[in-house]
Amino acid sequence: ATSDPAEMFRPSFHFTPEEHWMNDPNGMFYLDGTYHLYYQYYPEGNVWGPMHWGHATTKDLINWEHQDIALKPDEKGYIFSGSAVVDLENTSGFGNDSIPPVIAMFTYHDPEGEKAGDIDYQSQAIAYSNDSGYTWTKYQDNPVIPNPGLKDFRDPKMLRDTINDQWLMVLSANDRSFFYASENLKDWKKISEFGLNTGAHNGVWECPDFFPMKVEGSDEIKWVLIQSLNPGGYNGGSGTQYFVGDFDGKQFTPEKNMQNLEEKHPFWIDFGRDNYAGVTWSNLPGNRVLFMGWMSNWLYAQEVPTEKWRSSMTIPRDLILKKEDSVYQIYSEPFREFKNYRKQISVKNSGESNFVVSTDTGDFLQNQFTFELPLKDRKKVNFALTSKSGDTLQFGLDIPSKQFFVDRSKSGMVNFKDNFSGERSTAPRLIDSETLKVNFITDRTSIEIFYDNGRTVMTEIFFPEKPYDSFAILEEGLKPQNLKVYDVRMKLSKKE
Ligand code: FRU
Repeated sequence: ATSDPAEMFRPSFHFTPEEHWMNDPNGMFYLDGTYHLYYQYYPEGNVWGPMHWGHATTKDLINWEHQDIALKPDEKGYIFSGSAVVDLENTSGFGNDSIPPVIAMFTYHDPEGEKAGDIDYQSQAIAYSNDSGYTWTKYQDNPVIPNPGLKDFRDPKMLRDTINDQWLMVLSANDRSFFYASENLKDWKKISEFGLNTGAHNGVWECPDFFPMKVEGSDEIKWVLIQSLNPGGYNGGSGTQYFVGDFDGKQFTPEKNMQNLEEKHPFWIDFGRDNYAGVTWSNLPGNRVLFMGWMSNWLYAQEVPTEKWRSSMTIPRDLILKKEDSVYQIYSEPFREFKNYRKQISVKNSGESNFVVSTDTGDFLQNQFTFELPLKDRKKVNFALTSKSGDTLQFGLDIPSKQFFVDRSKSGMVNFKDNFSGERSTAPRLIDSETLKVNFITDRTSIEIFYDNGRTVMTEIFFPEKPYDSFAILEEGLKPQNLKVYDVRMKLSKKE
């Protein structure tokens, strides 16, 4: 409904709640062909409030179906972020017949305790579902992990550790990650801590995730800890860093080069300003690591110019672990099946001295661009998405300093909060190559840029008065090679 002004900023293929406030993705799991997403939700307003878990499902990661609210606050508190696992062997005993129970763990945040000035108002609790995630029963003996005397103690992420044959859980405690193990998902024992002396700490650690990954092209297994923090992100505000290392069943030990990382280290899932609190789906077949984040930033999330609903998610992304020059790195790619939901369109260069394209559909509201650029003998590359209202989003690379940037100071509506346009955001280029590979996806109000096959990722949102309808490379005589422009089409028949 583009003609409805209230809807003019709603993305088409990124998940948004039908109405009201959303933040972090929660409890994502896969079962029998359905991907479940729960999310931090306040169903009575368009700013943060008493937290519920909203619920949506998808079979293809692009068309979403809204479901009933899964968990509501109660006398023990609001329902903060958490995770869900499928208890295939009914280790919890919550299952009844043929289908495995799904167990969720979330943080109870007690607003009364907070008001009273207590320190221990966050604790961990569980709920179970015997209908594959549609309806939930909270466990009668909650909380399962009481607060040990820490103000920030939340966001439990569980996983089945098949290597050490145990349930594992990692949560954030002030600016540390705490690890717990369990046999039945009800009784949890703290086994270790991580976070001293390494990584970014200029904020509270939130929403961790922990899982083993196969190093691409080998049989080597490494463990990855994802750890969001707010503020203190790479470009200020909210951001998500990661660590790669080994896990002996109890203790996570990061690689040597990750043991003393400074605040502005190069290991971030995404360097852009709008990918926060992202975690991965559990119970996926194969070794797939599928990630999705909240496409906003606590710096301005509650003020963005949408009224009926606020915030969307990133597109799901496949994470890949590579070892290059003995450094382990996470690469991100748009989820693999995305290729089935796009159609190549033809574009013609209409620029005189530089490269400019527009499209027959009239706008670049839902597109993907992939191309390569020769950088030899150049100092910079500047790209621009521009609209008829004169709004323009600039991004690109400063070649000598190896810094990517996004500049949204003229991208459209920016004055709703002074820190929205701010300075340009930057990201390091992490490889040496005279060819720059660019792959970016636009929706109505977002861009997700995957440079160098996904080694450096930047995700940012924007609010142009009219949709961007032209794409330019602002360097004289610089032409993209192997340019492919796709239209994203959500209902594509298999044959196309
Ligand atoms: C992260 C976060 C979590 C918390 C939730 C509350 O964005 O602050 O740490 O559980 O949001 O909505």
